[in-house]
This record gives sequence, C-alpha cells and structure tokens, in this order.
Amino acid sequence: MSWIDNALASNGPIYLRIVNSIERTMNTGELVPGHRLPSQRALAKQLGIDLTTVTRAFDEARRRGLIEARGPQGSFIAPPKAAFGQPVDLSMNVPPVPDATALNDMLRRGAAAVLARSNALNLMTYHLSGGSPTDRHAATCWLQPMLGNVNETRLVVAEGAQFALASILISQTHEGDTVLCDHLVYPGLLQVTRSLGRRLVPVAGDEQGMRPDELERLSRESGARVVYLNPTCNNPTALTVPLQRRAELARALQRCELLGIEDDPYWHHDPGKPTPIAALAPDHIYYVSTLSKAISPGLRTAFVQCPSARHAEDLAAALRSICLMGHPLVMALVSQLLLDGSAHALLKQVLAEASERTALAEHLLAPSLRARATGLHAWCNVPEPWTDATFVHAAQLQGLAISPSSAFGPGGSLQQRGFRLSLGLASSRRQLESALRRINQLIISPEGPVIQR
Ligand SMILES: Cc1ncc(COP(=O)(O)O)c(C=O)c1O
Repeated sequence: MSWIDNALASNGPIYLRIVNSIERTMNTGELVPGHRLPSQRALAKQLGIDLTTVTRAFDEARRRGLIEARGPQGSFIAPPKAAFGQPVDLSMNVPPVPDATALNDMLRRGAAAVLARSNALNLMTYHLSGGSPTDRHAATCWLQPMLGNVNETRLVVAEGAQFALASILISQTHEGDTVLCDHLVYPGLLQVTRSLGRRLVPVAGDEQGMRPDELERLSRESGARVVYLNPTCNNPTALTVPLQRRAELARALQRCELLGIEDDPYWHHDPGKPTPIAALAPDHIYYVSTLSKAISPGLRTAFVQCPSARHAEDLAAALRSICLMGHPLVMALVSQLLLDGSAHALLKQVLAEASERTALAEHLLAPSLRARATGLHAWCNVPEPWTDATFVHAAQLQGLAISPSSAFGPGGSLQQRGFRLSLGLASSRRQLESALRRINQLIISPEGPVIQR
C-alpha cells in the first residue's frame, strides 16, 4: 500500500495525516530521496480533499525538511540534508530513546515516589555493597524471565556489568592468570583484563559460536579457570548461540570444572528469548544482566546471579574493595522503577525502536557488507579490496564513527575482518537511514579505498 493510500488513515488534522504518512513511509525506506510526488492538484483530487489542505501539508513537509520543491518540476522527497555532513556516532551501543517526554515523566514520578517513601537520611549514608533487600527483590523480578529460578542468597547487585566483570575477575583469578573468551569480545573486557594483568586467550568458534571441544582443549592446556561468554546478540558479532550449542558449552564447563561469566546485556533484544547457559549449568556460571542496554546507561545497574552463596559473598567483598558501594539514591530509583512496572514500559519502547532499527540495517545494508543485525548493532564484513583501516577512515571522512574489528580483538591468529555499526545513538531513524546509505555508498563508490594509498 502506498503512502497515498495510507494518507488519511490516522487521526488528527488532515494536512498532518498527509505529512505523517510521508514521514512514516520514508522511515520504512519505501519513499526514497529524489522520489517525485504527485502535483498538489492531482493529490487533492485523488484523496477527495481541498487543494488548500494539500498545500498546507506540503508546506509543513517542506518545513520539516521531508520534501523539496523544484519549481515547475514539482515536489520531491528531499535528500537527508540534516544528516549530511553531520557526524553520526555509530560506535557506541546505547539503547535508542524512543520518547523523551515519557522518559522524563517516568524519572520524575519515580524520583518523587522514592523520596516520598524513603527516609532521606537512609539514602544519605553508607550501605553495604551488593544491594539492599529491596534491591535484591527487584533483581529477582528482573532475572526471573531469564533464569526461571533465582536464588536470593546467590544474588549480587553491582553498579554495571563492567564493574561486575572486574570484581568477578578479582575474586576468582590472580595476576597473570588466563581467561578464555571468543575471538572478538566486548572492549570493556579487554580493558579490565589489561588493567588487572589477566591474559585473554581466544577459543576458536564457528557459525554457532564458541566451540566446546576447543574450550575443553584450551582449558586443559592453559590451566584457565574462567571463561567469558556473551552468547546473545554478541558484541560485536551480533551472533546468538543456539540452544544445542549452549547445552554443549554448559557440559564442557561442568566437565572441565570451569567457571563461566555469562555477560547477557542483550537478552531482551533477542525475540527468541534464548535459555541462558547459566540456566543449564547454574553452579558453574555467573550470570550478569545489566540495565544499560535494555533500559538506559543512565540507570546502569547489573544484577549478578552467582554459582553459589559463597561466590556471591566473595563477589560482594571484591565490589567493596574497589568501590565500597553504589549510590543509594540511584539504586533506590532503579528498584522503584523495576517494581512499579515503569522500567518494563520503557523496555518495551526500547525494544520496539531497536527492532525497527535492526530491520532497517538488514534492509538497507548491501548484502556484500551485511553479516547480521541484532540487539543494538550490526556486524559487517569488510569487502575486498577494503581493509578495516581504510573503511573506518573513509567512514570517518563521511562523518561516521564506526568500530573496526581491532577494537574487539584480544589478539591471536584468527582475527576476523569487519566492523560494528551501533544503531541506537542516531537521533532518529531518518538519520540512521542516511548514515547506512552512506556506508553502502562507500563500497559501491568507483574510487574504492583510495584514501590510504
Ligand atoms: C557485552 C557487554 N557487556 C557489558 C557492557 C557494559 O555494560 P555496563 O554499562 O553495565 O557496564 C556492554 C556495553 O557495550 C556490552 O556490550
């Protein structure tokens, strides 16, 4: 159905319905820059409305930068001028904020509720790290959909996944120890292990994720006690490990007496809601779920289910040793929003917008480029004769910040070529669309990678 068939479908003033229909159809990619619109008179006749209403609609669409008039040739869908030359950050995985007004309201109501029901003095003093009973109850509610069974004695609340990862490594490993991981990993893990003097050793994988036979071999050969896993909408490869492979990895952990750290910030983003490996081997895995990618980095909090109550105590002690505690006011707000349901309302909006954006990436990125788009990002191949470096540089010259595979590599011989595009930070779908089109333009440009010759 074309935008004209839909033009009067919604509610509100007719001229705005027409403008909104143009904008909606541009967002789906069906109306592209350069597309010629019917004349105002023809459109008025087709819709059975007054010519002045169509004129008003076109004026408004022009004001919003959606269309441009080219004199006697008529009106055309405008090139995305607002975004051209304007830097677009495709390098940070941040959830899109679909409705800033709703977000403001939610924060205002949540903060008011916290202050109304709490003793202010209690919020203004030191607390034990690891979370209050209310925080742990909120954590249980958050983790239940993923893990089913949540054991409160094994729960720890931390101020973000990065902080939890550092503290787990402090509590379970020593300087110089080996930590196993995928060939490409979340850059925060690279930084943490580097600062702590732990050695990352990549385990070979295939199109289903980390290979359990290789995990067992490397665990025996290296003496590693810990493996880092990020099996859902992996950062950066966007791969979700299928259930069968998860079960095999769980068995490998059990056989090798390995401790897994399952970092699962994108679980909600995967429509299949895959069973965490931690649900298959709960006594061998730290399950880490941060709110940063599902809700907002502004409410950054990680809930950790530990392999045992003793592991939870050790983790809380490690957290205490490096930061003592989180901010009680922020934590109280997080618990309030989780328990009164507003966080879930926001989650729903984030997921809806994120899935529109990944669909846009799947639709717009050229097949030679596209590997996968899930969660908040797409993983792309670098087509010959480009290299990571020339492609990233060329994108930079276009005002696009993207992340090359080298940002995710712990080293080793099996480096993958490619880059990650983060989809959440573009201010609108229209800006994202323009950025993705520019990425495509680069690979089909006749000049090719001339920049660094
Ligand atoms: C896999 C993974 N873990 C953890 C984080 C960071 O989470 P937090 O903000 O809670 O530290 C990220 C952020 O990009 C991530 O991709």
